[in-house]
Amino acid sequence: MFRFVASSRRSIGCVGTKRPSWRYRSNSSAAGRDDGRSLRQSKGALVALSLVAGISLGLYIAPTLKPDKQVFPLPSITPLGQLDPPRYGNDDDLIKCIKEIQTVVGESSVKNSAVEIDHHTDNGFNPSKPLHHQKPKYVVYPESTEDVSHIMKVVNKYSIPVVPYSGGTSLEGHTYSTRPGIIVNTSKMNKILQVNVDDLDAVVQAGVGWQQLNEHLLKTQGMETLMLGCDCGPGAHICGMIGTNASGIGATRYGSMASNVISIKAVLADGTVVKTKHRPRKSSAGYNLTGLLVGSEGTLAIVTEVIVKLQVKPAYETVAVVQFPSVNDCTKSMASFFRSGIPLNAVELLDSDMMRCINYSDLVSKRYENKSTLFIKIGGLNKVIVEEYVKEIKNISRANNCTTFEFAKTAEAAEELFSARKNALYMMLDYAYNEISPDAKMWITDCAVPLSRLASTLEQLNEMMKEYPMQHMVLGHGDANLHYDIFYTPDQYEMCKEAVDRMARLTIANEGTCSGEHGIGAGKRALLEVELGKDTISMMRKLKLALDPKRLLNPDKVFKTDPADESDE
Ligand SMILES: Cc1cc2nc3c(=O)[nH]c(=O)nc-3n(C[C@H](O)[C@H](O)[C@H](O)COP(=O)(O)OP(=O)(O)OC[C@H]3O[C@@H](n4cnc5c(N)ncnc54)[C@H](O)[C@@H]3O)c2cc1C
Ligand SMILES: *[C@@H]1O[C@H](CO)[C@@H](O)[C@H](O)[C@H]1NC(C)=O
Ligand SMILES: *[C@@H]1O[C@H](CO)[C@@H](O)[C@H](O)[C@H]1NC(C)=O
Ligand SMILES: *[C@@H]1O[C@H](CO)[C@@H](O)[C@H](O)[C@H]1NC(C)=O
Ligand SMILES: *[C@@H]1O[C@H](CO)[C@@H](O)[C@H](O)[C@H]1NC(C)=O
Ligand SMILES: *[C@@H]1O[C@H](CO)[C@@H](O)[C@H](O)[C@H]1NC(C)=O
Ligand SMILES: *[C@@H]1O[C@H](CO)[C@@H](O)[C@H](O)[C@H]1NC(C)=O
Ligand SMILES: *[C@@H]1O[C@H](CO)[C@@H](O)[C@H](O)[C@H]1NC(C)=O
Repeated sequence: MFRFVASSRRSIGCVGTKRPSWRYRSNSSAAGRDDGRSLRQSKGALVALSLVAGISLGLYIAPTLKPDKQVFPLPSITPLGQLDPPRYGNDDDLIKCIKEIQTVVGESSVKNSAVEIDHHTDNGFNPSKPLHHQKPKYVVYPESTEDVSHIMKVVNKYSIPVVPYSGGTSLEGHTYSTRPGIIVNTSKMNKILQVNVDDLDAVVQAGVGWQQLNEHLLKTQGMETLMLGCDCGPGAHICGMIGTNASGIGATRYGSMASNVISIKAVLADGTVVKTKHRPRKSSAGYNLTGLLVGSEGTLAIVTEVIVKLQVKPAYETVAVVQFPSVNDCTKSMASFFRSGIPLNAVELLDSDMMRCINYSDLVSKRYENKSTLFIKIGGLNKVIVEEYVKEIKNISRANNCTTFEFAKTAEAAEELFSARKNALYMMLDYAYNEISPDAKMWITDCAVPLSRLASTLEQLNEMMKEYPMQHMVLGHGDANLHYDIFYTPDQYEMCKEAVDRMARLTIANEGTCSGEHGIGAGKRALLEVELGKDTISMMRKLKLALDPKRLLNPDKVFKTDPADESDE
C-alpha cells in the first residue's frame, strides 16, 4: 500500500517503512565513487582477487590511485532497492506549478472538477483499480508541442508527477494517477498535418484517433484506398497506441504499432523536445529511439507528433467463416495458412463459448454451430486472385477437419459476416448482463504464446478454469494473441484476480508473454517480473531514471519506481 506523508509539509511523495540503505544520486558526478553495497561487495571481491593473484605471483601491487579516484564499474542496472523514494513537490508547489501552467496554456485549459478527475481515473474497463487516494489533482489540456514543453519545464521545476493521457481506452490501469499530480490529456492535439500519398505516410498530432485518420483518408479524394494498418479499441489515439504498442485485427497483416511508426516527436521530462528520426521509411541513423518510445506507456516522454505509415486497402476483399470440431484443428489450420504464404488480412479465433454468445445476441441474424471458429479476411488485387486464395484456404481447412466453410459472395455479406467478430465485446456484455447478473463485469485478459503452443496452452487454461465458478469466452488474434474474457460479479473480484494471475503464469510457462497487446500498466507489474526477471526490469528502470531522474512521468507504471510502494505484495 502507498502511504502518503501526512506531516505539515504535506509532501506528495510517499514513504515506506523500509529505509533503503543505498541512496540514488541523479547527480552524474557520483560516477566513479563507491556508491553502494553491491559495489562495495564487488570492490571487496576485486581487492581479494588481486591480493590472491598478487601474493601468488609474489608481487603485491599497491593501488596507486587514491580511493576516490579509483574507477570501479558502475552498475548497468538500477535495482529498486538502490533507490530512495521519489521526492515530489508539496501542495504549495503544486499550486504554484498550476498557476504557472495556466499562464502558458490559459486558465480554461486547466480543470479540476470532480467529474473531470473521475473521468480520468476510471474508464469502466480497467479491472486494475486505483486505491482511493490515487487520484490526480488537475487535468491539463495542451494544444501544441510548445505547450507540452512549457508544461514539462514547469512541472520539472516543482517536481510534480504527470500522467500522459489520450483516448483513455487502455485496459491495465495505465492512465490513473497513483499520485496527487497532473494528468496531461493530449486529445486536443488532433490535427492531421500532412498526408504524403506517394510516400504512404501521414504526419499527425499525437491525439489523432485511428478512426479519425481512416475517416479522413476515406473521404479525401485520392486517399480513399489508404488506411492506418493498426486498429484497436474504438476511441484510441495514435499516441496511446504508441504507448501500448497496440495491435488488433489488422496486426496479422500489417503488424503492431511498432511496425507502423516512422518517427516520433516527443517532450522529455525536463521539457526538451526531440524528434527520433526523419521521414524516410529506411534509416540507420543512430539509436532506435522510436523503438524505445513504442510501448513505453507514457513513462519516458510525452508524444506530441507522429509520422505513421499508411497501408493500401486491398482492392478486393472477402470474409470466410470456418468452423472446426476443436481449437486444435483451428490452430493447426492457422499455422498451415501462414505457411502457405497466402496474405491473409485477418484471422480471428473464437471458441465455442464465444460462438454461443454470438448465437445468443440479436446483433447478427446468423446462427453458428457450437464449434471453435475462425473468421478470416482474404484480400487481393481482384476477385479472380482472391478466389484462388479462397480455394486454397478451403483446402487447408478441409485437411484440418473443418465442418463448415462459409464465404461471403458480396461486400455486404462480408461486412455482415465479420460484424459478428467486430461486435463480440458488446455481445459478451449483453450476455453477461442478461444471463449472469446485471452487475456482472468482464475481465479482459491478454496474453500470447508461440502459435504452435496455442492449442495446448488453451487446453491447460480451460482445465484450470474448471476450478472456478466463473464463465469465460476466448477470442484470439492470428498472431497467437489470446483474450480470455472472464465474467465475474463484484464479490468474485479477488477470485477472478487470482485466476487471471495463474493464467498469465501458465502462459509464461508455455514460452508466452503476460501481455500480447494491452501492455503492463499498473495491473501486470508483478507478472512482467515473472516473465523477464529482476535484472531486465532493473535495466528498464535504469533507462527510465536516465531520462526521467525525478520519476515524474507516469510513475509506478510498468515497474516499480518507489521502494516504498508495496501495492503488488
Ligand atoms: C473495446 C476495446 C477494445 C480494444 N481492442 C484492442 C485491440 O484489439 N488491440 C489492442 O492493442 N488494444 C485494444 N484495446 C486497448 C486500447 O485500445 C489500447 O491499449 C490503446 O493503445 C490505448 O490507446 P488510448 O489512446 O486510449 O491511450 P490511453 O489509454 O490514453 O493511454 C495508453 C498509454 O499511453 C500513454 N499515453 C497516452 N497519451 C500519451 C502521449 N501523448 N504521450 C505519451 N504517452 C501517452 C498513457 O500514459 C498510457 O500509458 C481495446 C480497448 C477497448 C476498450
Ligand atoms: C480528454 O480530452 C478530450 C478533448 O478535450 C475530451 O474530449 C475527453 O473527454 C477528455 N477525456 C476525459 C476522460 O475526460
Ligand atoms: C511491438 O509488438 C510487436 C508485435 O507484438 C513485437 O514484435 C514488438 O517487439 C513490439 N515492439 C516494442 C517496441 O514493444
Ligand atoms: C525501430 O523501431 C521502430 C518502432 O518499433 C521499428 O518500426 C523500426 O523497424 C526499428 N528500426 C530498426 C532499425 O530497428
Ligand atoms: C446456435 O443456435 C443453433 C440453433 O438455434 C444451434 O443449433 C447451435 O448449436 C447454436 N450454437 C451454439 C454455439 O450454441
Ligand atoms: C457445446 O459443446 C460443448 C462440447 O464441445 C458442450 O460442453 C456444450 O454443452 C455445448 N453447448 C451447447 C449450447 O450445445
Ligand atoms: C488441395 O490439396 C491437395 C492435397 O491435399 C492438393 O493435391 C490440391 O492441389 C489442393 N488444391 C488446391 C486448389 O490447392
Ligand atoms: C482430424 O480428425 C482426425 C480424427 O477424425 C484426427 O485424427 C486428426 O488429428 C484431426 N486433424 C487435425 C489436424 O486435428
